[in-house]
Amino acid sequence: MASATRAKIAVFISGSGTNMAALLYASRLEGAAYEIVLVASNVEGADGLKLAETEGVATFTHSHKGITREEQDAAMEEAAIKAGADYIVLAGYMRILSQGFVERWEGRMLNIHPSLLPKYKGLDTFARAIEAGDSHAGSSVHIVTHELDAGEVLAQVKVAIAPDDTPDTLAARVKIAEHQLYPRAVADYVSRGSDPEYLYAKVSKLALALPETHEKTSHGSPGFRVGTEKSGKFFAHFSQMHHGSQHIALLVKTGSMDELLTLVESQPEVYYKPDYYGASGWIGVILNRPGVDWDHVQDWLMRSWRAVAPARLTKLHDAANMF
Ligand code: GRF
Repeated sequence: MASATRAKIAVFISGSGTNMAALLYASRLEGAAYEIVLVASNVEGADGLKLAETEGVATFTHSHKGITREEQDAAMEEAAIKAGADYIVLAGYMRILSQGFVERWEGRMLNIHPSLLPKYKGLDTFARAIEAGDSHAGSSVHIVTHELDAGEVLAQVKVAIAPDDTPDTLAARVKIAEHQLYPRAVADYVSRGSDPEYLYAKVSKLALALPETHEKTSHGSPGFRVGTEKSGKFFAHFSQMHHGSQHIALLVKTGSMDELLTLVESQPEVYYKPDYYGASGWIGVILNRPGVDWDHVQDWLMRSWRAVAPARLTKLHDAANMF
């Protein structure tokens, strides 16, 4: 789905920056999900910086030489924040990152690594793939976590290894594949907060993790019930732009109409009163907005579940939570 506002990304590079260039030109296509607000590097005069400048993109350079890892990260981070970046995208940024920096950008920093992860983390990936006799090499886009090349893999592309490949010939083809992969993976990642399939999968996982629950369609939308298939009661509904609403939302039970109206009035960016269900005390928790707190969504699901679950289940649940 096309997002109304484009996500802002800062790209960090150390070398030629060809992945950055692929990201940049993809962002210039109509309907692009993101824009590059900064290209930053630890290497003065890195090729990619010149290209970014030529294309009118802001650049920043800060050499890592003679300073601590933390100081270097802080300088790069500050530049990204000043540029208004929502995400940091590493594209051949040859630095190990400090833990604090990684934690502050958890879920908002991506990297591309030239292997089919979890195979061949670290360096010399092509030589290692050839040496092992693999049929394919490739590249992976992953979320950056404190462990090197170990965060959740978001997307991969495979590249066949030819019998006469050397690490260099293979690397050249993997680069071409990476240039297709990275823009797509970044666009999908920054758009997933407005993707109904992604949001539905998140809600469904949380709802069905509660005791004795199952899914049942209600008025054409997915709903979640507690109890038996025959006599269960709904505790949540997933609403996707129903009755002309712009919201993708989780509908859950409030305690009273007063509570519902107070919440909607005080936090209109989070809550709304859905048509039809609203009349009987169901509130809409808006999911297609930036910064959804999934712990908060889970709390609502739990509360709503407790409101309709039979006493035998809520008691068991209370007992389990005491330990
Ligand atoms: C890419 O192969 C990427 O997978 C790795 O570093 C290389 C960067 O190349 N992390 P470039 O600077 O984008 O050309």
